[in-house]
Amino acid sequence: MNMMKAQNLSRNSLLVRAPAKINLHLEVLGLRSDGFHELAMVMQSIDLFDQIEITSTNDGSITLSCNDPSLKTDEENLIIRAATLLRNRFGSEDLGASIHLEKSIPIGAGLAGGSSDGAATLVGLNALWGLNLSSQELHSLAAKLGSDVPFCLTGGTQLCFGRGEILEMLPSSCNSMAILLLKDPFVSVSTPLAYGRSKELYGSKYLLKESDFEIRRESLRKQNWLNLLDAANPPPLRNDLQKVVSPITPAVQKALNLLEELPGALSVAMSGSGPSCFALFAGLEEAKSALNQNIAEFKSAGFDCWCCSLISQGILLEKND
Ligand code: C5P
Repeated sequence: MNMMKAQNLSRNSLLVRAPAKINLHLEVLGLRSDGFHELAMVMQSIDLFDQIEITSTNDGSITLSCNDPSLKTDEENLIIRAATLLRNRFGSEDLGASIHLEKSIPIGAGLAGGSSDGAATLVGLNALWGLNLSSQELHSLAAKLGSDVPFCLTGGTQLCFGRGEILEMLPSSCNSMAILLLKDPFVSVSTPLAYGRSKELYGSKYLLKESDFEIRRESLRKQNWLNLLDAANPPPLRNDLQKVVSPITPAVQKALNLLEELPGALSVAMSGSGPSCFALFAGLEEAKSALNQNIAEFKSAGFDCWCCSLISQGILLEKND
């Protein structure tokens, strides 16, 4: 590559890292007038990343390739939707992008992989296209793309209310906790189906009034999550979707049973609408040791497995050359 080409590439390309998230708390409060559920959550970024390489072009086309052939790369993909939304709202029509996704976060897993890819596209193209959008403007575009996308922009440990898009950032903690994560590669859960089943089974028990929602939010705020992210006093994990997804998803029941039996596991839960499940450990060494001792059993039960640290940031612009 000659020098001129190398300079063009450095100006026009960058790498973005998009972390997965888990839910330390997912509480379904009630139903909203827009049909979505009113939620009270604590979301947590983990160091399991998709990597997105973006090259800006000036031919007006937005294209996506992916190392995983099972992922659809058409206009339904959140990466294409994010790029198109950003260009249509803030850019000129000749702005284009050629995007390559290296997928590591399992798909349809309850880990917000697609949402994080969408958030990464907004951050990457905001920089590459020189749009200079504020974090508030990016947040409002992210909320149009999906309920988890705003959290994915900033990541870390956050309280998430509303549909999931109203964020209260907790100051970054120096906790060293880690998780062991299990996911059956052949099972995925539809998020609308999980919420639909929650409404069917528990809708009659949903809270109805904003004042009751606020009581629950306040109770979650008072739990002081950063102090709770401590091995001596681990957080009481809760996921209301677990009780609706688990009975119809044997891979979730199996994962929870396996995780609960691990020595050193402080607490166990499903993430998001599943089917990923995780156990919380005091540190990465403890999680790795549990994995090493049980990897044969996890594999023979059909699970992919990861050990991950809890991290304090969301989308990372990694390289500009
Ligand atoms: O916002 P997102 O596209 O991730 O939502 C996917 C689906 O999950 C929605 O169409 C809805 O059925 C359900 N959902 C919900 N309440 C939320 C978030 C998602 O009912 N707060």
